[in-house]
Amino acid sequence: MPADSTAQTPTATPTILKLGGSVITDKDSPETVNDAALDRAVDAIADASDQSGSSLVIVHGGGSFGHIHAAEYGVSTTEGSHDLEAVTTIHGAMKQLNRVVVDRLGSAGVPAVPVHPLSAASRDAAGELSLSATAVSGLLDEGFVPVLHGDVIAHAGKGVSVLSGDEVVTTLATSLGASRVGLCSTVPGVLDDDDEVIETIRDFESVTSVLGASESTDVSGGMAGKVRELLALATPACVFGPDDVSDFLAGGEPGTRIERR
Ligand code: IPE
Repeated sequence: MPADSTAQTPTATPTILKLGGSVITDKDSPETVNDAALDRAVDAIADASDQSGSSLVIVHGGGSFGHIHAAEYGVSTTEGSHDLEAVTTIHGAMKQLNRVVVDRLGSAGVPAVPVHPLSAASRDAAGELSLSATAVSGLLDEGFVPVLHGDVIAHAGKGVSVLSGDEVVTTLATSLGASRVGLCSTVPGVLDDDDEVIETIRDFESVTSVLGASESTDVSGGMAGKVRELLALATPACVFGPDDVSDFLAGGEPGTRIERR
């Protein structure tokens, strides 16, 4: 049997937590970590991993390490580049941020291990993503906490294009059969027109007008897209703010719960 097919069926169903790039970096200053925010998230993860035996995958976004360079080279999830410098600069910056995240988690006692999507994913000519979960599930089975990130990846006919952390989350949620998915954003959930957190979203139509209108929906780089992708998952997902990481990891459902009917 090929190694892939056994590795895609891990024994435990993990929780997947994404730390938004705008939460853990200072968006206005290039390649700057938001130390206080990262430390808070790391503390919450360390406390939770002491208490629960359940497995965890962490994914982080790019913030001021990814987006600035991606824009500089004109690379997005749909626009690619064959420029080697684009690959080394964007991937290099994301690896630098990943190293900070992994090191902080390690220092706090979390068995965090880096997994770089550039070496494990690609898009076909239609833009369809393929991300191998082999390394992630193998590491989970051995008690590690894999830490992935948004990255650049091979894109058929286009060189490399951006892989967002959100895409990593939704793809792994399906391939690993995740039990829970949480997105930590700068805002405390998906907000309505009055900036109140929407408690539950079960279909896209009922929130389209709100997601298009509110300024705050743009803060995390397109809340509408996030909601649409999370609604497609079999796993229920929560979108919450930095104050709620502990609550989510303890089994709570802070912020907005997104679950398809
Ligand atoms: C972006 O990842 C990765 C790159 C630009 C290389 P995300 O799109 O997940 O980052 P954030 O969370 O919005 O910052």
